[in-house]
Amino acid sequence: MRVSVFGLGYVGSVTAGCLADAGHTVVGVDVDEDKVRMVSAGTSPIVEPGLDELLTTGVRTGTLSTTTSAHEAVAATDVALICVGTPGRTDGRPDVGALERVARGIGLALRSAPKPYTVVLRSTVLPGTIDDVLIPTLETAAGPGSTGLRVASNPEFMREGTALRDFAEPPFTLVGTDDSNTAETVRELYARVTAPFVVTTVRTAEMVKYVSNAFHAVKIAFANEIGDLAEALGVDPHDVMRIFALDKKLNVSGAYLRPGFAFGGSCLPKDVRALVYAARTRDIAGPLLSSVMSSNEAQIRRAAQTILDMKRRRVGVVGLAFKPGTDDLRESPLVTLCETLIGKGCEVRVLDRHVSIARLRGANRRYIEDEIPHIASLMCDGPAALLAHADVIVIGNDSPDAARVLGSIRPGQAVVDLTRGTVSRNAGRAA
Ligand SMILES: NC(=O)c1ccc[n+]([C@@H]2O[C@H](COP(=O)([O-])OP(=O)(O)OC[C@H]3O[C@@H](n4cnc5c(N)ncnc54)[C@H](O)[C@@H]3O)[C@@H](O)[C@H]2O)c1
Repeated sequence: MRVSVFGLGYVGSVTAGCLADAGHTVVGVDVDEDKVRMVSAGTSPIVEPGLDELLTTGVRTGTLSTTTSAHEAVAATDVALICVGTPGRTDGRPDVGALERVARGIGLALRSAPKPYTVVLRSTVLPGTIDDVLIPTLETAAGPGSTGLRVASNPEFMREGTALRDFAEPPFTLVGTDDSNTAETVRELYARVTAPFVVTTVRTAEMVKYVSNAFHAVKIAFANEIGDLAEALGVDPHDVMRIFALDKKLNVSGAYLRPGFAFGGSCLPKDVRALVYAARTRDIAGPLLSSVMSSNEAQIRRAAQTILDMKRRRVGVVGLAFKPGTDDLRESPLVTLCETLIGKGCEVRVLDRHVSIARLRGANRRYIEDEIPHIASLMCDGPAALLAHADVIVIGNDSPDAARVLGSIRPGQAVVDLTRGTVSRNAGRAA
C-alpha cells in the first residue's frame, strides 16, 4: 500500500519504519525539518533499539521517503496515518492543534487533487475528537474533494524502548470505524501482524486507549501502595505481588472489570477498610486504597440521585442482596440505596426471591429482622406485584427476575438500570 505517516516522533518514526519494513511504500511527513532530514538519511530521530536499521533499509531500498509537504505526501499515497502529538494542557485537556493543522493540510491537498483517500488517526484523542474535530476539519478544507474520504481510529499501543517488538506483536490491532471497507484497508496495512484484529465504533476505539493507559497507571499506583504497606508490615512486596498475579481467574483477568453498580458484601468493604487501617496506623498515605470506599459510595449516591431526579415516588427495586443468587445482605449497596430512597420519601418495594426465602428460613433471618426490618416488610413475592406498584423500576442486579421485570415494563414506566444493560444483553443472548 502507499501510506503517508504524519508526525515522525516516537510513534510516527516507528510506524513509518515498520510499515516500510513490511513492504509498504511509506512517505514520512513532519513540520520539523531536522527530523525529516534525519529520517531521510536513515537515522532515527528518537532513541529506539533497532529503528536506525529499519529506517536505513527503508531509505536504501526506496520503500521510505520523507517530506515536509502534506500536498506531496497526499499526492503520493492512498492512506494517511496521523501520529502527531496531543500533549495535555494544564487543565488536562489534550491539545489537538497539531491534529487540526494536519487535517487541514490533508484536506487542502484533496481539494486541489480530489481522489478516494483514507485517513487513520493513531494519536491518542478523547472520544468524540474524530467526529467533532478531525472529520469537520478535513471536510471543510477538502470541500468537494472530501467525496471518497474515509476516516478511522487506530490507536497505538507501543511502549518506548520495546516499540518495534510491540508494533509487531501488539495485544490487538484496534480499528474504530463503521465502514467495513475502511476496516479492510487498515487490516491490509497490518497484514503481517498476527494479533487479534478488533473492529469497533470510532468512539469506543478512542476511549479504549485512555482506559488502557489509565488502568496501567492505576495498576502501578496500586502495586506501589501495596509495596509500601507490605514493607511496613514486614512482608516481601515482590513475593506478595508475584503470588497475587498467579491468580489469573480473579486477580489478573477480566473479572470485576464489568461496569455495573457498587460492590458490597461481607468481605470487600471490610477488607479494604482493614488495609486502609493498617496503612494509616503505620503512617502510610495510601491515597488510592483510601479512596476506594468513597468511590463506591459515590456510585450509590449517583444512583439515588438519578432516581430522585425522576420525581416519581413509587419505586420498585429488583435485587437486594449484594449480588444475585445469594441472600447475603451485609453491606449490600442496594440496601443503602433503598434506605436513601425511603429517607427521601419514596414508596419503595423490593423483589429479591433469595432474600424472601432467607426471611422465612435462611441464615440471614436474624440479620434481616434485627438490622433492616423496615426493608424486609417491603418485599414483593413476584414481578407482578413489583410492576403493579412502581412508576420507576430499578434493576439492581442481573437475575432471572430482572429479565422478567424488564420484559413486562408497561408504557410510561421508567427504568433505571444499574447493571448498565447487562440484563438485556444477557437476555438477548439467551433468547
Ligand atoms: N510515545 C509513545 O510511546 C506513545 C504510545 C502510544 C500512543 N502515543 C500517542 O501518539 C501520539 C504521538 O505521540 P509521540 O510520542 O510520537 O509524539 P511526538 O511529540 O514524539 O511526535 C509528534 C511529531 O508530530 C510532528 N508534527 C506536529 N505537527 C505536525 C504537522 N502539522 N505535520 C506533520 N508533523 C507534525 C512533530 O514535529 C513531532 O515530530 C500522541 O497522541 C501520543 O499520546 C504515544
